[in-house]
Amino acid sequence: MNIGVIGLGHMGRAFIEGLVNSGVRQADITVNARTIQSVQAVKDEFPALQVAFSKRDLVSRADMIVIAVKPQNAAEVLGEIGRYGLKGKLIVSFMAGISLSDIRSMLGDESGSLSVVRMMPNLAIAKLNGVIGVCYEGDIPAMDKAGALFRRLGYMIRVSEERLDVITVCAGSGPAFAAYLMQQYREACLRLLGDAAQSEELMRRMFENALDMTADGGMTLEALIDKISTKGGVTEAGVTALKCSGIGSSMDYCFSSALRRITELKPAK
Ligand SMILES: NC(=O)c1ccc[n+]([C@@H]2O[C@H](COP(=O)([O-])OP(=O)(O)OC[C@H]3O[C@@H](n4cnc5c(N)ncnc54)[C@H](OP(=O)(O)O)[C@@H]3O)[C@@H](O)[C@H]2O)c1
Repeated sequence: MNIGVIGLGHMGRAFIEGLVNSGVRQADITVNARTIQSVQAVKDEFPALQVAFSKRDLVSRADMIVIAVKPQNAAEVLGEIGRYGLKGKLIVSFMAGISLSDIRSMLGDESGSLSVVRMMPNLAIAKLNGVIGVCYEGDIPAMDKAGALFRRLGYMIRVSEERLDVITVCAGSGPAFAAYLMQQYREACLRLLGDAAQSEELMRRMFENALDMTADGGMTLEALIDKISTKGGVTEAGVTALKCSGIGSSMDYCFSSALRRITELKPAK
């Protein structure tokens, strides 16, 4: 299977790195971006990739076409490739907030005969440890093969289109939210310790410790909190302060703000 990738920014490159790390031959990947600089940067890293200098060329070579451009570039890219005969090919969109029906309409697929899938990966697919939400209508036979390919890049879940927006926030944006929480932990350590290197190391180990101790069906998060929080003790005082600080509501506010932004960025009907 030849995999075409249009858009070689953060996500396009993470996807290519994941494919190569999962054993796909570079020669089976064909890429296209807007500027030669982006193509060259990817070629420097993966020299055996195939380059398509036009979308017509990419469409003619690829069996699966992955769209990894920003949502605001959707119409120009889909409008163009829709003119090049996509029958029998699988179209995979990574674009946040562009619905299956928007994609079909931009492709000019009024009869709904093309195979179109939305996927919402996060950047961890590069290291084969990503999360990928997937949504499509009905049964798409090409998804058997494509699904097997994507499952090698991480944890894949099929969801309704409405839920894909939730996956966009919780998983697509998720690494940034998790990094922000880790940053706050590190900064709080630094304010008390005054040593940046020690604070960074402590923060990393605390998140790793919590993950390790709750991994593989071991302890639940609740059991871990309970185990360390002796009644009337130090940890209990800290956990109570966290609860009172409203950190749970802050997380809800973070997700709802990000979800609202997806809606604001959707193309006008
Ligand atoms: N970044 C994430 O963590 C993340 C997570 C989930 C989903 N996504 C989705 O992935 C998509 C890409 O995001 P990104 O962060 O990778 O964006 P990005 O870094 O800005 O990359 C966008 C890429 O699209 C290319 N492009 C723009 N117009 C084009 C055209 N007409 N033809 C060919 N290529 C074109 C750009 O080419 P040039 O570089 O040559 O200008 C660039 O390589 C978005 O739709 C986003 O919703 C991203």
